[in-house]
Amino acid sequence: MKGRGELKISWARERMDVLGIIRDRFSDERPLSGCVVGMALHVEAKTACLVETLVEGGAEVAITGCNPMSTDDDVAEALKERDNVSCYAKYGQTEKKYYDSIDRVIDHSPDIVIDDGGDLIFRLHTRRKDELRGVKGGSEETTTGINRIRAMERDGILSFPVFAVNDARTKYLFDNRYGTGQSTFDGIIRGTNVLIAGKTVVVAGYGWCGRGIAMRARGLGANVVVTEVDPVRALEALMDGFRVMKMDDAVKIGDIFITATGNRDVIREEHFRKMKNRALLANAGHFNVEIDVESLERISETSREVRELITEYVVDGKRLYLLAEGRLVNLVMGEGHPIEVMDMSFSNQALTAEYISKNWKSLNPGLYPVPEEIDLTVADLKLRSMGVEIDQLTDSQLKYLEDWKTGT
Ligand code: ADE
Repeated sequence: MKGRGELKISWARERMDVLGIIRDRFSDERPLSGCVVGMALHVEAKTACLVETLVEGGAEVAITGCNPMSTDDDVAEALKERDNVSCYAKYGQTEKKYYDSIDRVIDHSPDIVIDDGGDLIFRLHTRRKDELRGVKGGSEETTTGINRIRAMERDGILSFPVFAVNDARTKYLFDNRYGTGQSTFDGIIRGTNVLIAGKTVVVAGYGWCGRGIAMRARGLGANVVVTEVDPVRALEALMDGFRVMKMDDAVKIGDIFITATGNRDVIREEHFRKMKNRALLANAGHFNVEIDVESLERISETSREVRELITEYVVDGKRLYLLAEGRLVNLVMGEGHPIEVMDMSFSNQALTAEYISKNWKSLNPGLYPVPEEIDLTVADLKLRSMGVEIDQLTDSQLKYLEDWKTGT
């Protein structure tokens, strides 16, 4: 009888068709033979399927979490039983234990690193420079991590090539939009059991994640308000049919607040004080900085846990409810993105690891886009696995596209 972790992994594996095709090829070709892959990702069932794909490709994998509260311990335990896998993730780690676990991964002297949020790559460039020279290349899963790595490149300290997996079209158009859109409400609804229809949902940030959240909020019957700092994105939100206003105004009408900006202090003291009684506060961004929890704690008259992972703060006599301590609500209160979108994200990761293992000698330190052929392969395989065929350009169409002489 399989344990709970193995059952969760099997459920995901059976629905990750693209990764399955890659796993079968990896098993024949063993492109990662002799390669140590160090990973800091959300350790849950879909991530385990990426791990087993890399192992099928010949890699030895050392993995830990990328958020102290997103690890699924059932899955982490199952991974610990696997050959060629060392897993250091555990739910609820203190900050010290969290970084100790990243250090344990680095102790394996990885050739390739796969990061989500940038903590592993950051650690290698600061406290663990001793293992930096051996790293041939890496990849980063999320917008926040890429922002950090871009800043490292700008400051001239980035020491190996890093591929921006987040920026592949088969990643952000699906994972960030449909993945975050669905999993954020999955987490909120599982965690609170509240009705979304008829509520005013305030979405902070109209990037790909914010778009997905706003779209799904509308689908669930909410009145949706978007807040933005970028005028073009604000206009897009407006013309997508959402109300757009300053957070200072949104706080007076919002019932549920969801941050997805990648920035800090998006909801802060001046906002908490103007909120309605019973407002729910949730974050869908990578780090727990978007809702200024420190200020919330400082200005609240009382605070107490009223339901698992929900803290009630009384501010100026009004009750505000913080979900998941302001951490990623979709992974802390739910199971992360749906399987079928992580299939595409993690297929990009697996193919990028293969690309690094084959091409690292010709790459300089820096931030790289995922090669277009990988993006197109993932899209192609996904369509094929869904039984969808598409048209191809004819020869005359190809010629037409290259011809500047044909006009009116
Ligand atoms: N599951 C594994 N990694 C994830 C991520 N970055 N976002 C949502 N769900 C995930």
